[in-house]
Amino acid sequence: MNGIVVLALAAFVTFAPWRVRSEGQRLQVGMTLVRNARSLGALCLDGSLPAYHLHKGFGAGANNWLLQFEGGGWCNDIQSCLERAKTRHGSSRYMNRWEVFSGILSNNASLNPDFYNWNRVKLRYCDGASFVGNTIFNNGTSLLYFKGQKIWEAIIHDLLPKGLGKARKALLSGCSAGGLATFHHCDNFTKYLPNNASVKCLSDAGFFLDARDITLNHTMRFFFKSLVSLQGVEQNLNRNCTSSLFFPDLCFFPQYTLKYISTPYFILNSAYDVFQFHHSLVPPSADPRGHWNHCKLNPKACNPSQLNKLQGFRHYMLATLRPFYIYSGRGGMYINSCFAHCQSESQDTWFGADSPRINSKTIAEAVGDWYFSRNRSKEIDCAYPCDRTCKNLIP
Ligand SMILES: *[C@@H]1O[C@H](CO)[C@@H](O)[C@H](O)[C@H]1NC(C)=O
Ligand SMILES: *[C@@H]1O[C@H](CO)[C@@H](O)[C@H](O)[C@H]1NC(C)=O
Ligand SMILES: *[C@@H]1O[C@H](CO)[C@@H](O)[C@H](O)[C@H]1NC(C)=O
Ligand SMILES: *[C@@H]1O[C@H](CO)[C@@H](O)[C@H](O)[C@H]1NC(C)=O
Ligand SMILES: *[C@@H]1O[C@H](CO)[C@@H](O)[C@H](O)[C@H]1NC(C)=O
Ligand SMILES: *[C@@H]1O[C@H](CO)[C@@H](O)[C@H](O)[C@H]1NC(C)=O
Ligand SMILES: *[C@@H]1O[C@H](CO)[C@@H](O)[C@H](O)[C@H]1NC(C)=O
Repeated sequence: MNGIVVLALAAFVTFAPWRVRSEGQRLQVGMTLVRNARSLGALCLDGSLPAYHLHKGFGAGANNWLLQFEGGGWCNDIQSCLERAKTRHGSSRYMNRWEVFSGILSNNASLNPDFYNWNRVKLRYCDGASFVGNTIFNNGTSLLYFKGQKIWEAIIHDLLPKGLGKARKALLSGCSAGGLATFHHCDNFTKYLPNNASVKCLSDAGFFLDARDITLNHTMRFFFKSLVSLQGVEQNLNRNCTSSLFFPDLCFFPQYTLKYISTPYFILNSAYDVFQFHHSLVPPSADPRGHWNHCKLNPKACNPSQLNKLQGFRHYMLATLRPFYIYSGRGGMYINSCFAHCQSESQDTWFGADSPRINSKTIAEAVGDWYFSRNRSKEIDCAYPCDRTCKNLIP
């Protein structure tokens, strides 16, 4: 019964003639289910069809494409994946049918000056391994599809005949777990597009560091290792990276794989990325008594020793990016010092009168200058607390 209701709803959305609606000034874009995904084995954790939201480009942008991977964490063991399969991040049955397109996805030139008229696509995230896994778990009573890599390929194949195959300009972007996905699909993306197309990639808050936590434990490394092994990720990592490392699964971390990517890259990240601060530098397991609770909610409440640890994290990020900063001629970066996580999707951080700035440049201007080769495009902010354009409201 439930299944029938859901199917009827899905069909309604897919064949609805109006895929766009505006609520006040917020653009909302309807969902498209990928019909041929089942035959490609490209399914969400629970076996439902994957989905995306497409808003067509127009005018001078009609042949340009921006693809954005949705973010939303990961699941690294059977239990957490079974739970995730019952949410919008593991099943299209629970996804909202309409997504707000704002920031880099906005269609308003005064809110998104360089990409507003491109074809803009949001790829929904329902596999739990940044679109890179390829295996199935089935022990007779529980069944889970770890098919992120196939979902990526199925969505691309769905979009190619809709105009992506004739793109003149393209940008593959994503935020958080979606930003991490860009590192693993960037070069593959270029291979689907015409040879003479201009193709570039942008990671927003996806530069997850192989950092030690405050007790010197490699918490994030353990987490990613279990994720890579559970979801069959290693086979889809960059071969030139995996063949160069003694522990090939580490190539899931962008810092090891970046130098093997040949497509021009833009790295947008906060040096105090709030997700990494809370889950990698100070995971709950490293602070069982909650000494960091106030500091986690408000950087002004951090004591000098905590601020030292945060500055150490920033130093490590900048040191890791130094070769990219120096040698990547076509690369761009924007490492600001705001306590934030994902800054390209929300309008107030992307482009607005009081958006964060480095050298008076907003994120939208920096990304646009880099994409269109208009100006130098590697910006590194001074260390906290110098930047007065940050809002530092930690959710
Ligand atoms: C575009 O955004 C500007 C600034 O917020 C607003 O004044 C204008 O009405 C918007 N245009 C449309 C068509 O929504
Ligand atoms: C299959 O895995 C689930 C989740 O780990 C577990 O609860 C269940 O008992 C397992 N079934 C069998 C037959 O091992
Ligand atoms: C790429 O080549 C095709 C075929 O020659 C041509 O139609 C198209 O305009 C070219 N695109 C760009 C971006 O130059
Ligand atoms: C993209 O990657 C997949 C998985 O490795 C591969 O099967 C496919 O051929 C690649 N696409 C292109 C166009 O090279
Ligand atoms: C280090 O972190 C991992 C993953 O969170 C955990 O399993 C392990 O027990 C931790 N080791 C120590 C010594 O705290
Ligand atoms: C690995 O490097 C070789 C030589 O630089 C290059 O031709 C090849 O495309 C690279 N492979 C991948 C998967 O990046
Ligand atoms: C390039 O950036 C600098 C500093 O941000 C600015 O002063 C200059 O006007 C920019 N030039 C162009 C052509 O946009």
